[in-house]
Amino acid sequence: MKEEIEKAFIEKFGSGNFITITTPARANLIGEHIDYQGGYVLPIGVDRFIFTCGRERKDRSVKLFSFNYNQHFETTINEIEYQKEYHWANYILGVLAEFKKMGYNLPGMEIAIGGNIPVGSGLSSSAAVEVSIAVLFQKIAGIEIEPIEVIKLARRAENEFVGVACGIMDQFSIYLSKKDNALLLNCKTLDYKYVPLRMGSHKFLLVDTKKERSLSSSVYNERVRSVNEAVNIIKKYEDIEFLTDVKDIHSYRDKLPYETYKRALHIFEENHRVLESVQSLEKGDIDGFGELMYLSHESLKDLYEVSCEELDFIVGFSKNFKEVKGARLTGAGMGGCCLVLLETSFIPYFISELASLYQSAFGKKPGAYDIQPVDGALYQNF
Ligand code: GLA
Repeated sequence: MKEEIEKAFIEKFGSGNFITITTPARANLIGEHIDYQGGYVLPIGVDRFIFTCGRERKDRSVKLFSFNYNQHFETTINEIEYQKEYHWANYILGVLAEFKKMGYNLPGMEIAIGGNIPVGSGLSSSAAVEVSIAVLFQKIAGIEIEPIEVIKLARRAENEFVGVACGIMDQFSIYLSKKDNALLLNCKTLDYKYVPLRMGSHKFLLVDTKKERSLSSSVYNERVRSVNEAVNIIKKYEDIEFLTDVKDIHSYRDKLPYETYKRALHIFEENHRVLESVQSLEKGDIDGFGELMYLSHESLKDLYEVSCEELDFIVGFSKNFKEVKGARLTGAGMGGCCLVLLETSFIPYFISELASLYQSAFGKKPGAYDIQPVDGALYQNF
């Protein structure tokens, strides 16, 4: 795939030196919808990639080519504005806008971008594009920015330019993940550590619902708003910054509107589940970790209400087999992928059985990606 994008770059912009940046996808093992409330998350880098080829131009123009959409977009450094018609370009332009705000004098650039991270599948192709542009720009400009600043600026691009109020998990893990490890991130302090994945005869599989997620960003922003409202109410009783600071969420059962309480309860319990999960993984207790995955999914379905029929179908199907240890939606939900933890030898049977039942229920086949935990963009592009 990398070679194809590089070939496309040369075809569109001509030969000569250019830089190629490799950026992985991410899957979150557990800790969903809590990064924007100071919670713990446990993502991995995933071996599906965005490849970004680029170089400086002598004029002020910004020329972009998307390999996957087979589209060109062109503007100038002085006119970096939100594009309704070229949604993919916004993840690039948003990062350039952030560099401008930070006072960097941007040169003109030509960039070809593409890859094999399925779009809209909850594997964060958007954050991968943002991080890849942040890495590319550092190489083009010959500068090195602190990792945490790169991560924060990539997130700001999504919050402010694209308009999704996402947390920091995706950009963080896409930049700093480590091969064969999960990354335990405290989203309040931004302290992190690596948790070795000793999987033995087990693997993670991603099952893609292939469901269109057309309203996902508005539902996402609505959830963020609703839990911020919970924080404001609780602040009258307790000195907190985030819901994950609350001592005992149950004492607010009658003080919050019922729906808001359910959202807050998810965040409170999910945060505890992440720490329990780390203990299980450190002990090599795959069954224990799998149980927590199932509990996390239940909570996202019933309390946070960001699942969908297709995801629940895959999780329900998984529960029929002792070879499957756990399953849950990963990412923002409402479609996208289900992460399944299962015995490696059971994967072919699991996929073929699920595919035929899923086809009868939803009229289409799910995707299935056998994944490996890989290094983040910082380590991929030394
Ligand atoms: C999206 C956001 C993340 C996170 C997850 C849900 O991927 O970009 O910040 O909130 O959803 O855990």
